[in-house]
Amino acid sequence: MIEEMKRKAGEKAAEYIKDGMVVGLGTGSTVKYTILKLGEMVRNGLEIVGVPTSRRTEELARSLGIKLGDLNDYDSIDITVDGADEVDEKLNLIKGGGGALLREKMIAYASKYEVIVVDERKVKEFLGEFPLPVEIVKFGYRRTLRNLESLGCRAELRMKDGEIYITDNGNYIVDCKFGKIEEPEKLEREIDRIPGVVEIGLFINLANEVIVGKKDGIEIMRKS
Ligand code: 5RP
Repeated sequence: MIEEMKRKAGEKAAEYIKDGMVVGLGTGSTVKYTILKLGEMVRNGLEIVGVPTSRRTEELARSLGIKLGDLNDYDSIDITVDGADEVDEKLNLIKGGGGALLREKMIAYASKYEVIVVDERKVKEFLGEFPLPVEIVKFGYRRTLRNLESLGCRAELRMKDGEIYITDNGNYIVDCKFGKIEEPEKLEREIDRIPGVVEIGLFINLANEVIVGKKDGIEIMRKS
């Protein structure tokens, strides 16, 4: 059922993509359905350039024959489709569960239109139930962790298969359990002031539209 909700949202977003577009390709198990659909559309003649937000997405897109480009080569990206871990009513997001938040944020910032695809479990009144991912440099990481905790969260260094998780950019990720985040913009500014922080998984005012896959169809949330 969850997979079906993800598929509905992911495939709907593929309908937004037209010939000649430069398309930001997000990371995760929901946007994977958009990318698979785009692969099919490319085989049927669609001409696009994809700008991937992670190595994982790059490999998937390449395997499907989607032409790929580099963020440096374009003044802007026409549209980006990406997933999210949480979405609130203002379309603010928590992202980074898949570890790709830095490239995802850079690509979202460069995009004329950012479409987010989620299943209905991710839509919340407040952000923060999902631990907030923060990408940090390796140098002095224990100190950075303590500095993050001083903002009122429980901070855990992300691990994978018994090793410290390393991002595509060679950094670490700290997952910060804040609980209900009442003022996301303020929190983003506070975290940003900590030396050693590279990027924060709060995406404020970056999404234009959220496609929500539901048990009984699709809901589109747009910026009011
Ligand atoms: C990766 C992300 C993903 O978009 C987010 O984790 C959602 O992934 P999924 O669709 O697999 O739940 O931010 O950094």
